[in-house]
This record gives sequence, C-alpha cells and structure tokens, in this order.
Amino acid sequence: MPEYSFSPTGEKFKLPGQEDYTKEFKRLQDLVNSQRALGREIIVVMGLGFVGAVMAVVVADAEDEKGNPTKFVIGMQRPSTRSYWKIPLLNRGISPVSSEDPEVQLMINRCVNEKKTLIATYTYDALKLADVVVVDVQCDYLKESLGNVQDGRADMDALEESLEIIGQHVAQEALVLIETTVAPGTTEQIAYPIIKKMFRKRGVEKDPLLAHSFERVMPGRNYVSSIRDFWRVCSGVNEEATCRVVKFLKEVINTEKYPLTVLDKPIESETAKIVENSFRATILAFLDEWSLFAEQNGVDLIKVINAIKVRPTHSNMIFPGPGIGGYCLPKDGGLGLWAYRHIHGFEDDIFKITPLAININDTRSLHVAQLTRDALRNMSRPIASAEILILGASYREDVGDTRYSGSELIVRRLTEMGAELRVHDPYVSHWWEFEKQDEYPASSHGLKRFFRGQEKLKDLRVEQDLEKALHGIDALILSVRHKHYLNLDPDEVVRNAGGPMVVVDCFGILDDEKIRRYFELGCEVKGLGRGHVKRIKDQVREAKEQMLQRLKV
Ligand SMILES: NC(=O)c1ccc[n+]([C@@H]2O[C@H](COP(=O)([O-])OP(=O)(O)OC[C@H]3O[C@@H](n4cnc5c(N)ncnc54)[C@H](O)[C@@H]3O)[C@@H](O)[C@H]2O)c1
Repeated sequence: MPEYSFSPTGEKFKLPGQEDYTKEFKRLQDLVNSQRALGREIIVVMGLGFVGAVMAVVVADAEDEKGNPTKFVIGMQRPSTRSYWKIPLLNRGISPVSSEDPEVQLMINRCVNEKKTLIATYTYDALKLADVVVVDVQCDYLKESLGNVQDGRADMDALEESLEIIGQHVAQEALVLIETTVAPGTTEQIAYPIIKKMFRKRGVEKDPLLAHSFERVMPGRNYVSSIRDFWRVCSGVNEEATCRVVKFLKEVINTEKYPLTVLDKPIESETAKIVENSFRATILAFLDEWSLFAEQNGVDLIKVINAIKVRPTHSNMIFPGPGIGGYCLPKDGGLGLWAYRHIHGFEDDIFKITPLAININDTRSLHVAQLTRDALRNMSRPIASAEILILGASYREDVGDTRYSGSELIVRRLTEMGAELRVHDPYVSHWWEFEKQDEYPASSHGLKRFFRGQEKLKDLRVEQDLEKALHGIDALILSVRHKHYLNLDPDEVVRNAGGPMVVVDCFGILDDEKIRRYFELGCEVKGLGRGHVKRIKDQVREAKEQMLQRLKV
C-alpha cells in the first residue's frame, strides 16, 4: 500500500518507494558532478525543520567576492508521513517553514529556481556526496510531569539515529557540523564514538571530523538575519575539525561584522548554548515571585521594571508574561542536568537554580486561570461554561510560533475547569497543539496528558475576525503582546462583546487609562503583576459614588 504525507495546506504527496531511490541518487550524482565542475562545495543539511530549512538556504545563498555561489546545498529530510512533504515543496522553491520574515520565502525561491544552488532529497545516499554535513535534527527533552524538569530525560533517538546514518555514509574527509542544541558532552562522548564505530565497520581508518556550533535563531521578522548576521560560537574535536568549521562558517555567515568565538572543546560550545538559555530562563523566572508580590500589595510590576531598567546595568530585565515558551528555553536547562548524570556519570545534585527556573516558568501561566476564575467570581459568574476568549496563541509577540506557549496551558487549565475557550491570533492559522493534540508535538511530549477533559479542544479553531471572536464573551485574556492588541479601545471591545466582562492582562498590555475605562464600563480587570488595578477600581467606584451623591443633592 503506498503511503502519503500531507502538507499543512492539505496537499497530498506519495512517499517514495524502493524503486525511486536509485533514480534519486543518480539525479543527485549528476547534479553534484556539474556543481563540482563549477568549483562549488557540496553541503548536506540534515533535518529541514525550523532551523535546518533556513540554515540550508543561508548556505545556498553564500557567494564569493565576485558574486559567484560557492556552495551547492542538498537539504535532507527523512521520508516519514509526517515530514516528507517538506521535500517536494522545497524543490518547488516553497519554504517548508512558515515565517514572518519575507526573506525566507524570497531566498528559497531564488536559490532553488534562479541560482539553482538548493535542492531537497530523502535519500541518505546524499551524504556520500557531502564535503560538509550540517546536522539540524531535533534533540528533545521529555518531561514526565508538569513543573518538575528533574523528572525527565533527553530524547536522543532522532539525533543518535542520524549520527549512525552519517557514519555509515559520509566520506572520511567530510566535516560533520552539529548545530542541534545537545546535552553538553554529546559531540565528543556520543557522536564521535558512534561515527567512529561506523567508520571502522566500513574499514575507514581515519577518525571523524566533528564540530559543534549552535544556532541562535529567533523566529520573527529577522529570522534569516538571526542565522546569517549574528555572532557564532564553534569548536572542533581536533585541530583539523576546528580549522574546517571556522573556514566553513566564515564562508557562509557574516563573520566580518559578527566575529566568531572559537572555543577549545565542543563541550564548551555545547555548554555555552545551555548556559545562555538557562541564564535567560532564570532572569525570567526570578520575576515570578515579585509578580505575585506585586499583585498582593498594590504594586504595578511593569512600572517597577521600567523604573529599574533605566540603570544600564539592569537594562535586560524583562517581564515574564504568562509563562516562558518557545522550543528552547523550556528544555535546554534540562539537557544540562541530564548530561551531568547520564553522560558524565555524576550522582550529586549540583543544579538548584536551573531546574527551579524552568519549573517556575513551566507553571507560571496556571496562575492566569486563577485570576480569571476570581475575576469572574467578582462579577458573580461561574467559571464553568464561561465563554473565554484568549488573544494570542504564540509564545511571543508578533510571531506565529506556538511551541510551549503560555497560552496553551491557560487554555488547558481553563478547559479543565469547565470553561469554553475561543482563540484569536493574527499570526496563527492552526493551533496544532490542540487540533492534532494526540500527535503534535509527538504524543509523548504533548501537554494534554497533564490535564483532564481535553478531548473537545481538538475542535478549537483560531478565529481571525476579532469582532466576531469577542461576541458574547464573559472573559477576555490578553495573553500575547501582538501589535494588534496594544491599542484595543475598551469601548469598542465592550460594545463588540455585548456588555461588560472580565479582562485579564498577562503582559502589561493595558495602560492605566484603559484599565480605568474598563472599570467605568462595568468590567472586572486583573493582571499578572498588576496589583495597582485594585486602586484604580476603588477610584472609579469612589468617583461613581460621588456622582450619585451629587445627583441626590
Ligand atoms: N527553533 C528554534 O527557534 C531554535 C533556536 C535555536 C536552536 N534550535 C535548535 O536547533 C535544533 C533543531 O530545531 P528545529 O526547531 O529546527 O527542530 P524541528 O523539529 O523543526 O526540525 C528537525 C527536523 O529534523 C528532521 N529529522 C529528524 N531525524 C532525521 C534524520 N534521521 N534525517 C533527516 N532528517 C531528520 C525532522 O523530521 C525535522 O524536520 C534543535 O536542537 C533546537 O533546539 C532551535
């Protein structure tokens, strides 16, 4: 029976059969021969996900000082029903990842259809043709319980499988550059032995040339720039590998303006990535307790942070919003803890702050459900069956990336409490974490398993018409600082809703004037870290009472 893979828009692609592989490899060999004749190096990028697809096109777009392309890139993706569609799409010049950065689509079209320096394939035989292999497959961290990162493990399956395949196929002089965020120690203690073992099985005497250099890619309007025009850290397993990785990165990314940092050992490059993200996760988590303090003591944490940030030494203080999502911050620290025990064999418990920060970040958004419940109670409305609209599904402002967003947990908890959820997000057309909640992300990673009564969320669809979404709601949760939500007019919102409702501000979106207006319109307002709303509420009530007094007189 033929198997099929469906693209996000529903286009159907037949998976290749045994007979297709020989033809496909012949096609690649012919292309590679003609590209080598043009003096181009052959680069295979393994894994065409969020990072690999864009890294592939950045490399394919590289030119020498005369403006001639220097690399021919083969993007390689395993032909699973889940991911195969990326290959035919990319071969047409269509980006397999959606991005707010218009350069992604333009560059992919240019490199595939005009410069002809980029193609995609499913056959691992492509690796035999590579001068450099860039590894961009995922390495996840599986959490077994909510809010306890210690109860989890690195999921190395895809990475280890990829390394074995690389060892079976690559030429002995090929450089293997691991860009995947890995548990520190992976390149030297896991990847190197796997590839070396495969080399020896093939009778290859040379040791593998391996290096690590992590990505700092940021979803959003500067996606390409965040790969090409940004500082990089790298390191090789030996001098030859280090020289090769430095040469490669200098040829494909803007190292003149953004100089490379070359570290002595891959474990240092791997640790740099984990520490960088754990640092960020920690400064965000730190504000969670002050956010609760602020709510309970009449303090507006947003104003407090702004007051502190004028001090240049504290300018990177950031308000955490409803939890910390994205693919990296919730997992990277976990890879560090795991490595300490399972790669390096230590038994003691040295990590205190890193896991605590992740655990705080992973559960911060649940407090939003409590605020919503309390505000509804103040309006004498039960949470059960309340119609609640959440504005923003993604994990940060003005991007469509929903991975581990705080909004997902808010929806899950409120659903568990009996509420009826709606969602609006101008950047997200499908919230796959709900629509395909049994398979996306892989069933073992999904957050569904930590909540009850989640089945109906399969039917949750992202509403694009805000006016329609507002109609008849009991509560509005401002969850993400998308530009579309920063200037919503309270009068219009209440009019569209058909009457007053609860407004929960998760991200300092409302200024005091708007908060006041919502109260004047009969709404109940609460916000993460925004204890001063109570003061505004009292002022509005007093003003109303005074007016009534005057009317009586
Ligand atoms: N997305 C980000 O914002 C970001 C930022 C910095 C670093 N990173 C890191 O980059 C790495 C990749 O992340 P991503 O977001 O691109 O992940 P992703 O899940 O979007 O992509 C991984 C791709 O690899 C493919 N793959 C898996 N095994 C394969 C194999 N054997 N052969 C060929 N392809 C295979 C998968 O099918 C998938 O398409 C991760 O380590 C991540 O932590 C991601």
